[in-house]
Amino acid sequence: MLGDIGIYGFRVMGENLARNIESKGYTVSIGNRSSSVIRDFMEGKGKEGNFVPSYSMEEFISSLKKPRKIMLMIKAGSVVDATIDSILPLLEEGDTIIDGGNSNYEDTERRVKALEKKGIHFVGSGVSGGELGALYGPSIMPGGAKEAWDGIKDIFMDISAKAGKNGDEPCTTWIGAGGSGHYVKTIHNGIEYGDMQLISETYAVMRDVLGLSNEEMAEVFTRWNKGVLESYLVEITADILGEKDEKGEYLVNSILDKAMQKGTGKWTVISALEEGQPVSLITEAVYARILSSMKDERVEAAKLVKRPVSEVDKEETIKNLEMALYASKMVSYAQGFSLLKAASDRFEWGLNLGEIASIWRGGCIIRSAFLDDIRKAYDKNPKLMNLMVDDFFQKELEKAVSGLREIMVTGVRNGIAMPAMSSALAYYDGYHTENLPANLLQAQRDYFGAHMFERIDTARGEFFHHDWSGQGGNTASTVYKV
Ligand code: 6PG
Repeated sequence: MLGDIGIYGFRVMGENLARNIESKGYTVSIGNRSSSVIRDFMEGKGKEGNFVPSYSMEEFISSLKKPRKIMLMIKAGSVVDATIDSILPLLEEGDTIIDGGNSNYEDTERRVKALEKKGIHFVGSGVSGGELGALYGPSIMPGGAKEAWDGIKDIFMDISAKAGKNGDEPCTTWIGAGGSGHYVKTIHNGIEYGDMQLISETYAVMRDVLGLSNEEMAEVFTRWNKGVLESYLVEITADILGEKDEKGEYLVNSILDKAMQKGTGKWTVISALEEGQPVSLITEAVYARILSSMKDERVEAAKLVKRPVSEVDKEETIKNLEMALYASKMVSYAQGFSLLKAASDRFEWGLNLGEIASIWRGGCIIRSAFLDDIRKAYDKNPKLMNLMVDDFFQKELEKAVSGLREIMVTGVRNGIAMPAMSSALAYYDGYHTENLPANLLQAQRDYFGAHMFERIDTARGEFFHHDWSGQGGNTASTVYKV
């Protein structure tokens, strides 16, 4: 029996993905650096299934049908390069290697090119959905060597989550060339950071201003999950808030408030800066994790100040919180999708933003009803300037933003740090302002550094320098862009 596809790397994501593929009628070759993991699996969950175990790389490669399809489910970074190096001598032209980890898209870009020269198709594929997603249907974002898609398409379509009215639209599609698959997964994760931070800020107001019990909060999130905020992250938040430990105490109350991260949020922010896109909400979400990790400093600093307290109406505030969360979420996705568009233009990936929204509707961590509205907006106008100017989102934002303003006031008056929500409002207001104070900023730049400015009454692209102090020269410094 030869494997239709091989999964190499048998930690929980690899194992669950292999089980998912096998359950769809495929034979799966399985391998791992330490073979005891494979042995244990074959004696347990793998006993009955169509798995081909292997206990060395040579055995693994020769257990596959040709042209071979190998999916690596290993830690991102240098381990991927080392594993590719160990597989390469055993492969033949036309074989495919898929990297299903959270690799940096620049590494994927490099690997696609390097392997193309050797006749090997390399695919960098985002896989989202965590352990359960891998087992029951993740959202899959493959990109790289397009030649590989025909050979892996059926498997990916079969194992992915399904979305849509009839629940039959696969949450996978060919994303594009080079590192685009991993790039899209990176932005997915950045958006995930934003969603999580927004929910956490909402929780802070509920807990610290309204003094709601965990039960009450869980109830609110459960109710919200039936409306415009319907999403996996809101759903699990309700579960988390209600969960008790073995002592009968709410578990979340005993969890240390130090957030960790593995890098995809940071990569999103770095890319946003490189593309000159103001992805402020995700940036604040990354900073919020960093600030949270400074626990010892915060404990000391907290002793120095007293948090202000201001009375609020409970029911009114809960209503406003729902609107604030919804408005901020719309802003966050508008920023994330603008970044996708900018990167797609620069790298010439031709990303289909409607399709990306569509494959995020199911399986992945940010899955939500709301992504269907985003899909519709981009299907209607693939060149949409910004999600916030789409008819539907413009109207929704107009309704919800008043709640966001109220919550900002509540947060400010009660000393609750709400960096993601504040950044959402600042972006919303800034984006909708015809005249920003940047005229003054340009004047300052020209004053001290002769950096020049454009005028409102002359053609764009024509730059002027003024001798502000009467002591400057006539020479302006060079003009350069972000
Ligand atoms: C997913 C998740 C997954 C992982 C994150 C966690 O889409 O399934 O995003 O990829 O849980 O990488 O990232 P942090 O450890 O940085 O929060």
